[in-house]
Amino acid sequence: MDTADSEATTGELAEGFRLSGMHAESLTRFARVYRAQTAAGEDIVVKRTPGDAGRTEALMRWTRSLDHAGIAVVIPAGLDVANPQEIHGEHWVVYPWIDGAPYTGTEGQIRQAGDYLGRMHAVEVPTQGMRTYSYPDSDYSEVVSDCRTLEGVLSSQGDTEAIEVIRELGRRWWQESLPGLKKHDDELPRTAVSSDFKANNLLYTEGGPVLVDPDNGGVEPRIFDLALALVLFHNEGDGAPGRLFTDSEWETFSRAYLRHVQLTDRERELWSAALDHMLWEEGTWVLEDNDAAAWADSRQRAFLLNLAHTTPESYPLPDESVA
Ligand SMILES: Nc1ncnc2c1ncn2[C@@H]1O[C@H](COP(=O)(O)OP(=O)(O)OP(=O)(O)O)[C@@H](O)[C@H]1O
Ligand SMILES: [Mg+2]
Repeated sequence: MDTADSEATTGELAEGFRLSGMHAESLTRFARVYRAQTAAGEDIVVKRTPGDAGRTEALMRWTRSLDHAGIAVVIPAGLDVANPQEIHGEHWVVYPWIDGAPYTGTEGQIRQAGDYLGRMHAVEVPTQGMRTYSYPDSDYSEVVSDCRTLEGVLSSQGDTEAIEVIRELGRRWWQESLPGLKKHDDELPRTAVSSDFKANNLLYTEGGPVLVDPDNGGVEPRIFDLALALVLFHNEGDGAPGRLFTDSEWETFSRAYLRHVQLTDRERELWSAALDHMLWEEGTWVLEDNDAAAWADSRQRAFLLNLAHTTPESYPLPDESVA
């Protein structure tokens, strides 16, 4: 939980980091992300990193190591003043402005994204101090009440078929997928992941994609992060199609990923359970969390309805990659 008693104003951020030309509006309605310039005239963004000083430090250590290993990610800009800085108990970081193209759903961009995720999962990086994954300690009554909430969401969108898909997902997750994952948890390789690997967190430069939003980084079973990328890659992406990957896009993405990561037999066996886990834990949360304005956006609405109909059968893992 944040302990800030008041939020930093843009004026305080400008003063603390000696920035000029601070944009008054955030780049996104979901968080405070401001564009500005440094005293040396460099374009930057300043944004808040959730968590305490220890977590901020751990994140920065991780992103610097990724960057050092050639996995392009934003790292704090070199300034004459401290960066990150704690202002009103919140941790603020100035990152260089990345002049890249947004995702538009091309096959090349999908391949580059899969390749990036594979490299990120394969590299050795320091992880001490990073958030570690823990399973939800829900009970069955929560599954039932979530199903009821989702029924309300989907029936107000006129999609009664999706309700059945979601009910079956909840049942399967609770009775089969979650117990199966927990039983073999110690056999699931964990690695440092961004846990938010989606198109609008990437900008495509000549050198390839750059991850501009590593803030949700933590250490998790890598198949969860792969499954999460599949589930949410097109969420909130203005230039993305209003759906999850097609078969052939998934083939492109996953094959590019598997060039870097050799999944174990157990991971392959539990892939469909991992996908259920992310569909239930993250996918249904997104369905519940989107407000009326989001549902009124035709692209996002189509994405959400497609998400509500998604089951693991549609997304098998390709065989061991040959190339
Ligand atoms: N360093 C950067 N250079 C250029 N554009 C950026 C940079 N950082 C963020 N952006 C743009 O601003 C958008 C929002 O930033 P970001 O992803 O960090 O916020 P967010 O997703 O709303 O935050 P959170 O995921 O923490 O809720 C990005 O999708 C990207 O288009
Ligand atoms: Mg983001």
